[in-house]
Amino acid sequence: MSKTATLTVDGNSYELPIIEGSENELAINISKLRGASGLITIDPGFKNTGSTRSGITFLNGEEGILRYRGYSIEDLAEKSSFLEVAYLLIYGALPTQAEFSSFQEQITHHTLVHEDIKKILDGFPSEAHPMGVMSSLVTAQTAFYPESLDPNRSWDAVNLSIIRILAKMPTFAAWAYKNEIGHPVNYPDNRLNYTENFLKMMFALPAAEYEVDPIVADALDKLLILHADHEQNCSTATVRVVGSSQASLYASLSAGINALWGPLHGGANQAVIEMLEMIKADGGNIEKYIAKAKDKDDPFRLMGFGHRVYKNFDPRARIIKKAADDVLGKLGVDDPVLEIAKKIEEVALEDEYFVQRSLYPNVDFYSGIIYRAMGIPTEMFTVMFALGRLPGWIAQWKEMRENGEPIGRPRQVYTGSTLRDYVDINNR
Ligand code: SDX
Repeated sequence: MSKTATLTVDGNSYELPIIEGSENELAINISKLRGASGLITIDPGFKNTGSTRSGITFLNGEEGILRYRGYSIEDLAEKSSFLEVAYLLIYGALPTQAEFSSFQEQITHHTLVHEDIKKILDGFPSEAHPMGVMSSLVTAQTAFYPESLDPNRSWDAVNLSIIRILAKMPTFAAWAYKNEIGHPVNYPDNRLNYTENFLKMMFALPAAEYEVDPIVADALDKLLILHADHEQNCSTATVRVVGSSQASLYASLSAGINALWGPLHGGANQAVIEMLEMIKADGGNIEKYIAKAKDKDDPFRLMGFGHRVYKNFDPRARIIKKAADDVLGKLGVDDPVLEIAKKIEEVALEDEYFVQRSLYPNVDFYSGIIYRAMGIPTEMFTVMFALGRLPGWIAQWKEMRENGEPIGRPRQVYTGSTLRDYVDINNR
């Protein structure tokens, strides 16, 4: 393969270097294009544009491959734990037992949040969407830990900010939920592991013993692993761009939470359940909604279907679909929307419209069914996605900082009015 590409415009040729990644991906480096030719490229949605070189996560959309730091998602989902995967993503290697114990101890030590967080929660009406509460609480950490405002401080100081937010995010999520249902919050129980502690803070009630169901804890830990990172998706790209201005880690993460909230991104898991419920309420008329999804004049989309990168299958969707059967069976939950989801997948995968556009179930198509079986309410589904994606966002922010990447500032092609004279308002 040639190491350069030649661009010829109006008889002028420009040599552009081609770079190759460790998985043989190739890219034309255009970082000097404008200086040499006066030309820029344009690519709405960045469908053909790489923003960085990264050693964190590898996706192969054609073959349905997802690896974190070289480890397959299938292996990690089966053999690892979410906290160990968080360590892997952020620090770049699987921890030794001593390293993991130290990491776990640091996280456990920081799960408690400042009591004034309750004053912020009290300021939210109970119907506030928990994603808005989460992005506010994460930004508020800059007030409780002003030293976190400066990303250029020592690595130890930055790492303490990382440990703090990893530890406190489950507490924020559980407290946002309790605030929404008007229940008293639960304090962290440091005798429990990361996922168990979250479940207890979510579901324990005053004056009642709460035992974490190991089936639920295991399924949730697996779901968090599956959501932990996904290279340069919308919210991760947001975290990197915000962080590139040297805004704080917490400001960058809060921006990522808000980008994830959109129904085309992490908000899709909530939109999938709402869609399945709508189809169920409409007599389970799947053909009607498949037709609506195909109709260009109908804004309805099959939520949980399609992906910017995966063009054969989303490996996470396969794992989650199996886990859904497993968890609902073990919990003895019979959820009719699971059968509707499976039927939609079956019908869509036989339909030329979806096959031609490589539209398959993505990570969001089945995840909500499991969350619901666990007793997690629909509007908390995207918060669960954020809880899982947190270590990925942190790892990507850290890599961007370590690489000393420039501030993200795309160019544009101007299509507005050319020069015109100002006209006084009385003469318009
Ligand atoms: C996530 O990037 C990531 O990695 C994200 C994520 C992660 O882990 O971070 O994987 C998490 O965000 C998963 C995606 C969740 N979103 C949804 O499930 C919402 C429904 N899906 C779509 O809106 C869409 O498929 C996207 C947003 C996921 C991808 O959009 P693209 O790549 O910009 O594709 P597109 O919108 O240009 O669609 C291409 C064609 C179009 O038809 P034509 O104009 O070619 O005729 O496919 C059609 C679209 O209309 N299409 C759909 C569809 N998705 C795409 N038609 C019906 N239903 C759908 N769901």
